[in-house]
Amino acid sequence: MSYLIRPVEPADIPMIILLTSQTAMFKPLEVEALQEVLDDYFAVTRDFGHKASVLVEEGKITGYAYWAPAAMTDRTWYLYWIAISNLVQGKGRGGHLLRHAEDDSFKEGARLFLIETSGTPHYDRTRQFYLKYDYSLSACVPDYYADGDDLCIFSKRLAAKK
Ligand SMILES: CC(C)(COP(=O)(O)OP(=O)(O)OC[C@H]1O[C@@H](n2cnc3c(N)ncnc32)[C@H](O)[C@@H]1OP(=O)(O)O)[C@@H](O)C(=O)NCCC(=O)NCCS
Repeated sequence: MSYLIRPVEPADIPMIILLTSQTAMFKPLEVEALQEVLDDYFAVTRDFGHKASVLVEEGKITGYAYWAPAAMTDRTWYLYWIAISNLVQGKGRGGHLLRHAEDDSFKEGARLFLIETSGTPHYDRTRQFYLKYDYSLSACVPDYYADGDDLCIFSKRLAAKK
């Protein structure tokens, strides 16, 4: 597998939005929110330490991640978005991007990395993904997103690689 990870550029936004829709994991409202997050990123939030990278292979974007420090905490960071093209999922790319976000945050001083996701069966494989990459399920808030749709918070302490 030969690919590179580089910071997101404005011209990448349409492909990121398309790729996200094509995973069929997100509601239209969530995809709209992503568009706003990326617009804000170039307008404001990257100057406040937000980070976004794409995974590129043979000139095509096949995944992306977005992560940022959590306000009012001592070096806690959040992974806000991650997605891999549904054509190439399950081949290690998501893990590679996740590690990239963790390593980058650690270099910026992060000590704790958090990820929020849904507790519905639709997100079973997503939750398995975080467990596979050494996250612990730290908390659940019943009915957070909607009745029957819990918030699951995964966490990992970041440490220097041996
Ligand atoms: C979750 C996601 C980022 C993982 O990336 P990936 O490249 O598919 O994952 P990897 O190959 O690094 O890791 C594979 C593990 O992830 C999990 N997984 C989650 N979704 C999977 C999928 N569609 N196909 C295969 N494995 C998947 C499995 O536990 C798998 O482990 P296994 O091979 O031992 O069964 C990606 O599948 C994706 O974009 N899914 C849809 C969007 C999404 O859920 N984003 C996160 C929202 S909070």
